Amino acid sequence: MAKKFLLNNDVSIPSIGLGTYKIGLTDDDSYRAVRTALDNGYRHIDTATLYQNEKPVGKAIRESGIPREDIFVTTKLWGTDILNNNIKKAFEGSLKNLGLDYLDLYLVHWPVKGKISSTWKEMEDIYIDGKTRAIGLSNHLIHHVEEVLKDATVIPAVNQIELHPYLIQQDVVSFCIEKGILPEAWSPLGSSKMPLLQDEVLIWIAGKYGKSTAQVVLRWNIQKGRVAIPKSASHERQAENIQVFDFELTDDEVKQIDNLDKGHRTGAHPDYIEF
Ligand SMILES: NC(=O)c1ccc[n+]([C@@H]2O[C@H](COP(=O)([O-])OP(=O)(O)OC[C@H]3O[C@@H](n4cnc5c(N)ncnc54)[C@H](OP(=O)(O)O)[C@@H]3O)[C@@H](O)[C@H]2O)c1
Repeated sequence: MAKKFLLNNDVSIPSIGLGTYKIGLTDDDSYRAVRTALDNGYRHIDTATLYQNEKPVGKAIRESGIPREDIFVTTKLWGTDILNNNIKKAFEGSLKNLGLDYLDLYLVHWPVKGKISSTWKEMEDIYIDGKTRAIGLSNHLIHHVEEVLKDATVIPAVNQIELHPYLIQQDVVSFCIEKGILPEAWSPLGSSKMPLLQDEVLIWIAGKYGKSTAQVVLRWNIQKGRVAIPKSASHERQAENIQVFDFELTDDEVKQIDNLDKGHRTGAHPDYIEF
């Protein structure tokens, strides 16, 4: 089972979660993949309104037989709901789709220019209302986080950003840690869009520990104090991705992995996202 980190409001979050973006072509596939992950020991599931899978994800959680309070559930507010002044309805819609009474974490999926501060105000209202245990950000660069913090009464619990050895975003990560905001790594394995897992440095380190390159990358994230949410639809790879608590990288290996940074994004740049 994944070890936990503590959010700035003392809510604990499993350090490895299951990413669910495109986890299934159909609702049945998505349902099965999430059930398999829960059987594999995952207790943290990451979804979003955008992924259009909240219904099967929620069904899998509800039908798993695992007590609700043992599973950490995240979903995200999409930009069009911000632009259409539909934030609170979007939150209620996500809860309804998931079939849950409460969320563990609700995130602003991407910053919407001109709406950053007002969006956070509504996120704070949602938090105070009590149907989510934490609120946070995603894809917010330093200047976006600064804009949030300017008027915030609730400090964001996390900032979920693209984070892997080819994009270490050290400036954003350090800034968030300094402010008590836990960084979360999306596409922690570099997604299917880049050959990160074939990197020679990672292959060498993986060989030393008898681990896979995916496990090395996930371990690197956790040792640096960050949550990671790898996506896999396969029972075997899900199991592999959560077995990262029985070895420890040396400081030198952590540095070698940091040095792989190429500034390569697989996703959009947060300043230029369009909805
Ligand atoms: N906040 C945001 O804006 C944002 C953006 C993108 C993603 N996310 C979240 O982050 C999650 C993860 O990101 P991602 O899905 O883009 O990429 P990822 O988790 O880095 O990589 C997923 C890819 O790696 C493969 N894979 C998984 N485990 C593997 C292993 N042990 N060995 C080899 N290949 C492996 C998967 O294939 P198989 O499924 O076949 O195993 C899939 O092709 C998403 O699902 C989503 O929840 C958030």
